[in-house]
Amino acid sequence: MMMPCYRYWVLLGLFIMVMIGQGPIVASATESAVLKPRVPADKIDEARTWSNPFEATPENINKGQALFHGKAFCVTCHGKDGKGLGDIPGLVGKLPRNFTDKIWQAARTDGELIWILKNGSPGTDMASFVPLVLTEEEAWHVLLYVRSFGQP
Ligand code: HEC
Repeated sequence: MMMPCYRYWVLLGLFIMVMIGQGPIVASATESAVLKPRVPADKIDEARTWSNPFEATPENINKGQALFHGKAFCVTCHGKDGKGLGDIPGLVGKLPRNFTDKIWQAARTDGELIWILKNGSPGTDMASFVPLVLTEEEAWHVLLYVRSFGQP
């Protein structure tokens, strides 16, 4: 009578340990894939020297928002809430980035983001928008709006 009971407790214990262990492992693998730089290694040092010439005033952010929803159609992939489809393990790089992820926001410089808008994110569905869809000035405004998703 005692034996099966004991075994169930051991199994339950193992199950709980696996469940507790699993979450952070999956989350950190997703996180590191998201944070991996998208700008190629031989271009990133130069890209990181570029900074946004426009200030994050409400007026400039609104201009970026209008472009995000309007002619640049970023909203179709990244969503009204900027969350994309969320970052799902195994699909990182295939899904539109979640702009509300503060760790991702902190990991990227403005220069890297404008590089992506000019060149696209290599090997993904994130295409280049400058100069075909947006001027460089407009792209900087859109990025002010992208940054605003990382604010409280
Ligand atoms: C066709 C869908 C699509 C559209 C439209 C789109 N994106 Fe993306 N975007 C993606 C995908 C997919 C990724 C993820 C690529 C990756 O993981 O590198 C991404 C990633 C990004 C990134 C993050 C790259 C990084 O460094 O992590 C930025 C910034 C971005 N998009 C901005 C924009 C802006 C601004 C627009 C509008 C001008 C836009 N996107 C339009 C699909 C799209």
